[in-house]
Amino acid sequence: MRLLPEPSAQSLRLIFLLIFVMGVAPSPALTAGCPDRCVCDDQLVVQCAGQQLTDFPADLPLATRQLIISNNRIGELPALQLNYLSDLVYLDCSNNSLTEISESTFGNLRKLAYLDLSFNTLAQIDDRTFGPLASLVMLRMTDNPGLSEIHPDAFSENIALQVLDVSRNNLTTLNISTLIALPALRSLGLSGNPWRCDCDTEDLCLWVQIEGFKFQG
Ligand SMILES: *[C@@H]1O[C@H](CO)[C@@H](O)[C@H](O)[C@H]1NC(C)=O
Ligand SMILES: *[C@@H]1O[C@H](CO)[C@@H](O)[C@H](O)[C@H]1NC(C)=O
Ligand SMILES: *[C@@H]1O[C@H](CO)[C@@H](O)[C@H](O)[C@H]1NC(C)=O
Repeated sequence: MRLLPEPSAQSLRLIFLLIFVMGVAPSPALTAGCPDRCVCDDQLVVQCAGQQLTDFPADLPLATRQLIISNNRIGELPALQLNYLSDLVYLDCSNNSLTEISESTFGNLRKLAYLDLSFNTLAQIDDRTFGPLASLVMLRMTDNPGLSEIHPDAFSENIALQVLDVSRNNLTTLNISTLIALPALRSLGLSGNPWRCDCDTEDLCLWVQIEGFKFQG
């Protein structure tokens, strides 16, 4: 007759596994620190709004999913620190002092769905700035009073983009054909810009007139 020690060995393994999972690998949000003057919760939300920060917060939990740094005076989004946050889904940088966003700024944020860059001091948006953001659904970039140039292909790779708001900037022209080509786009905010209307920008001017129109489907 054979002895059957397997079940007990198996339950031992299970217990070991449980101890390992619970004791060694708890949620990173609970173990990692929380930046100075920010509040971190167990839903991986880091809230740093209105704290008079002048620098991007240091020591963010790597698993952060939502980061709110609005209403501060942050002058720069450091690509290296930001791109460690590869699970980031929601990023609110509105009402800061951002002057520049580069090709590397959002290089690794493939899950980012919501980005708010409104109320900053951006002057121009280059090609590929938003290129890596394959999951981006909503981009708010309003109220940058000196923003006068957006590269024609700036959004051409954002195939998930549904809502784009570039109201109240200093834009005179915008290549509408690359926007129309975005498969998911259904809302576009254009108001409050000094649009230049001539033959070259006929399409754009038509769109400015019908703003508020939602795409079908
Ligand atoms: C921007 O942030 C400052 C400081 O928190 C606040 O006083 C101001 O009302 C904010 N402006 C907007 C447009 O939200
Ligand atoms: C807006 O752009 C015009 C040139 O198109 C420039 O003269 C003006 O200074 C800009 N406004 C701001 C607030 O930067
Ligand atoms: C818009 O951009 C596309 C692609 O970059 C280009 O072929 C087209 O001529 C541009 N249209 C205008 C009106 O500038």
